[in-house]
Amino acid sequence: MIRLILAGLLLQATSPCLKCHGDLLKLPGRHAVLEDCAACHEDQGDHTFPSWTLEAVRDLCLNCHDVSTRHPPPEKGACTACHDPHASRLRPLLRQSVAELCQKCHLPGPSPAFPHPPFKEGSCTDCHAPHGSSHKAHLVGPEPETCTTCHDDIGRRLESPHAHTPAQDECTTCHAPHGSDFPRTLKSHLSTQFYERYTPLQYFLCFQCHPASDLFGPDSGFVRNSENLHRVHVQRQRGHNCLVCHEPHGTDQPHLLRSWIRYGPLWAIPLRLQAQEKRKTCQPACHQAEEYGR
Ligand code: HEC
Ligand code: HEC
Ligand code: HEC
Ligand code: HEC
Ligand code: HEC
Ligand code: HEC
Ligand code: HEC
Ligand code: HEC
Ligand code: HEC
Ligand code: HEC
Repeated sequence: MIRLILAGLLLQATSPCLKCHGDLLKLPGRHAVLEDCAACHEDQGDHTFPSWTLEAVRDLCLNCHDVSTRHPPPEKGACTACHDPHASRLRPLLRQSVAELCQKCHLPGPSPAFPHPPFKEGSCTDCHAPHGSSHKAHLVGPEPETCTTCHDDIGRRLESPHAHTPAQDECTTCHAPHGSDFPRTLKSHLSTQFYERYTPLQYFLCFQCHPASDLFGPDSGFVRNSENLHRVHVQRQRGHNCLVCHEPHGTDQPHLLRSWIRYGPLWAIPLRLQAQEKRKTCQPACHQAEEYGR
């Protein structure tokens, strides 16, 4: 600490600028090149300086920093709208918190019933590169990886033998990344109840790609002779939700079948699918072994 103060006093004595602008050195979180005023300020001789244009700022900063300029604000050269060129309490040289900076231009909108925690906390740069990127919506990486850096358990499910194609592509096919009015930040209706009185709206999310007419029709694989077992399980007063049997990201068993049926928060029953030629068996699960197939 004493060494820092001494170093500051020494500089103040030697740098012609700091005699009068010494206040700059008192600020916390200094820019590494702060003391070298001449790196950025060109004195015309009579203590006048060319006024800053956005282009001049951009060229100056980019001389030393190789940052992306795909996002319009840095592209235009508004570096000092977000960064103080001298020093700031907020790293890295930020004038305000990340969320405050971003929300100057990107209004947050009404807050959803189920906000996604990193969005709610204003950690925009967990997912977005502030200077822009080559990925969709200036994400820091390709989409599944942007999400699976935090959700590594889901990342592992994508590596399992039977991964759900849309989950491997884009998480935002089903989830709203900032939050939504549906549980699990889903983009549209999907019941998360174990028992559910059947209405088509409850399963809208899945029906968008797997039409009810297919699931409950004669061509579904979940049939016993001519009886459709999706119909038997789902279409009833106390019907079973898709998520009772299927895991939407990836599983060890075929057809995205869960290995464990979650029954309440504490109880889970194992589910084993056994296949012999065209006949398959679900066991032990919720009932005795039951055979199905054509
Ligand atoms: C004798 C005192 C003194 C010295 C030495 C001095 N300045 Fe200044 N400087 C001032 C004052 C006073 C102002 C006007 C008030 C302000 O903006 O802080 C000013 C303003 C400035 C401005 C803002 C100009 C503008 O157009 O807005 C810059 C940039 C600047 N000084 C840089 C420097 C640099 C670089 C040096 C060293 C080469 C330096 N000053 C040395 C006193 C000084
Ligand atoms: C990394 C580049 C850089 C360095 C180093 C730097 N400045 Fe600046 N300074 C700027 C820029 C850019 C602005 C214009 C700020 C803006 O756009 O808001 C500025 C603005 C100023 C101003 C105007 C008032 C203000 O705070 O905005 C003063 C005074 C000033 N600088 C003095 C200095 C002095 C003295 C030094 C050396 C101790 C110094 N600067 C070092 C880039 C720098
Ligand atoms: C003369 C070279 C030079 C110029 C010009 C320059 N910087 Fe820097 N800047 C550095 C160095 C050196 C560092 C410290 C090493 C690093 O983090 O890259 C640094 C660090 C930074 C950091 C990171 C600080 C942190 O806490 O991690 C930011 C942000 C930054 N500079 C922004 C700017 C902006 C904005 C401009 C233009 C107004 C600018 N720089 C101009 C050399 C420069
Ligand atoms: C919209 C606000 C914004 C603008 C405009 C902006 N930055 Fe940044 N910059 C940030 C934020 C936020 C971070 C911190 C990123 C993080 O936490 O991962 C950052 C980080 C940095 C860093 C340090 C780490 C890194 O990513 O290299 C440098 C250097 C930097 N910016 C330079 C610049 C330069 C140069 C410009 C202008 C061409 C610029 N910034 C324009 C918001 C901005
Ligand atoms: C000065 C205004 C401004 C600030 C501050 C700003 N942006 Fe932007 N941003 C823009 C503009 C302009 C565009 C391009 C037009 C558009 O797509 O909305 C854009 C585009 C984007 C996009 C892509 C939008 C799309 O539809 O693909 C994202 C994501 C984004 N900004 C995130 C951020 C984040 C995160 C921050 C804070 C680090 C931030 N912005 C700060 C002006 C700003
Ligand atoms: C968990 C990751 C994550 C966080 C945190 C996050 N975003 Fe996003 N954001 C995304 C993704 C992914 C998209 C692309 C959505 C799509 O394509 O459907 C996006 C889209 C955007 C867009 C484009 C327009 C739109 O709304 O679709 C803007 C602007 C934006 N985000 C700004 C922000 C701001 C500002 C913050 C911080 C308050 C933030 N984001 C936090 C992941 C995130
Ligand atoms: C086909 C739609 C769909 C896609 C694509 C999808 N999810 Fe999900 N996700 C769901 C559903 C449905 C749930 C609710 C599961 C439940 O409650 O049993 C869920 C739940 C979650 C949960 C809550 C915890 C859990 O294990 O149930 C996280 C975290 C999650 N998803 C992350 C992701 C990530 C990361 C991606 C991209 C790699 C992704 N999801 C892709 C439908 C999807
Ligand atoms: C910076 C870390 C981080 C990133 C990146 C991130 N999340 Fe999350 N996410 C969280 C936290 C923390 C929670 C709340 C605790 C939990 O459920 O794991 C959460 C919860 C969720 C949930 C469950 C919500 C619920 O109601 O149960 C889903 C779904 C989800 N995230 C999807 C995504 C998707 C999709 C992405 C990529 C666009 C993503 N997350 C990126 C941290 C992150
Ligand atoms: C964006 C479109 C899309 C959405 C939404 C979607 N899926 Fe899929 N699903 C696919 C694709 C593509 C495949 C792989 C091709 C196939 O087998 O049809 C697949 C495969 C499956 C399979 C495995 C089929 C088999 O026999 O191996 C099941 C089970 C499944 N999805 C259930 C669901 C459930 C449950 C939901 C709702 C949470 C859902 N899907 C939402 C597109 C989607
Ligand atoms: C009682 C457990 C159970 C429930 C509940 C269930 N499924 Fe299935 N589903 C299966 C089984 C078992 C298969 C595998 C059939 C086979 O062996 O080919 C299957 C197959 C599928 C397939 C592959 C195509 C087909 O029809 O064979 C899709 C897609 C699918 N289910 C989606 C859903 C959706 C969407 C829901 C909710 C509306 C749902 N399932 C509810 C057990 C269930």
